[in-house]
Amino acid sequence: MRLKDKVAIVTGAGSGIGRAAAMLFAAEGAKLILADLDNADETAEAIGANARGYAADAGDEDSIRRLVRQAEEHFGGLDIMFANAGISGGLKGIFEQTPEDWQEILRVNLIGPWLAVKHAAPAIKERGGGSIICTASVAGLRAGAGGPAYSASKAGVISLVETAAAQLVGSNVRVNAICPGLIETGMTAPIYQWARDKGRGASIGQLNPLQRGGEPDEIAKAALFLASDESSYVNGHAMVVDGGLSASHPFRKLAYGQTAA
Ligand SMILES: NC(=O)c1ccc[n+]([C@@H]2O[C@H](COP(=O)([O-])OP(=O)(O)OC[C@H]3O[C@@H](n4cnc5c(N)ncnc54)[C@H](O)[C@@H]3O)[C@@H](O)[C@H]2O)c1
Repeated sequence: MRLKDKVAIVTGAGSGIGRAAAMLFAAEGAKLILADLDNADETAEAIGANARGYAADAGDEDSIRRLVRQAEEHFGGLDIMFANAGISGGLKGIFEQTPEDWQEILRVNLIGPWLAVKHAAPAIKERGGGSIICTASVAGLRAGAGGPAYSASKAGVISLVETAAAQLVGSNVRVNAICPGLIETGMTAPIYQWARDKGRGASIGQLNPLQRGGEPDEIAKAALFLASDESSYVNGHAMVVDGGLSASHPFRKLAYGQTAA
């Protein structure tokens, strides 16, 4: 029960990583305010009395403000904010994306986490401290894992947690990011489906040394670590959870034990 009696908000809780984190946080004793555009209720119902689901836009300031208030009204305060909601915005390139594409992707993926920090931090501070976790991506580390606006938004999230951790000095509120690699969720379902339809399901995740895609629960476990007191001295950090994908420059792959010579 690593989150016993803690109160957490999870955005993007209706699917994928957010849903897995909500289920895991609940199993570890947390009380939960779950937010998504329209499917947070299903996750809340699967958890039971300790969770409430709300339709909320994670990139909208009033919505975030309301979620924090709901945590205070229903559960007496806030200890943990998992700003996880995000959109890929598709795979259009530099020449195809429009300013509107960029505005929406940055609004949800970067302004959303900033709003989460802005409104959750004071409430968490009131409880004596706690943890804010933002979902970034390996796409924020370097190119090749998303469209241009998506990648820029996730690089921004990594910068945000560094700046926020520094600016929250003395508050005992820690702010960290998680950078998932390829995880099978609603967001990546079309990629997985495309590969499987072509009979190439076995090639999914082959670019990382573990040679597989990740599961939402593997990111949820990282979020649990960052949410709990086990990570009490981890602050301003972007934790990469990608099977080793981003650990290496591109290279000609060899079999296990084989040498290049
Ligand atoms: N799946 C991956 O491979 C992968 C890799 C790196 C990072 N991520 C990040 O993980 C996070 C979770 O995505 P996922 O992979 O679980 O995808 P997902 O599509 O399964 O879940 C994302 C959820 O966020 C919700 N959402 C989207 N816009 C929202 C908004 N404005 N307000 C509230 N909710 C909104 C969606 O409705 C959805 O339920 C995202 O930030 C994503 O960028 C995913």
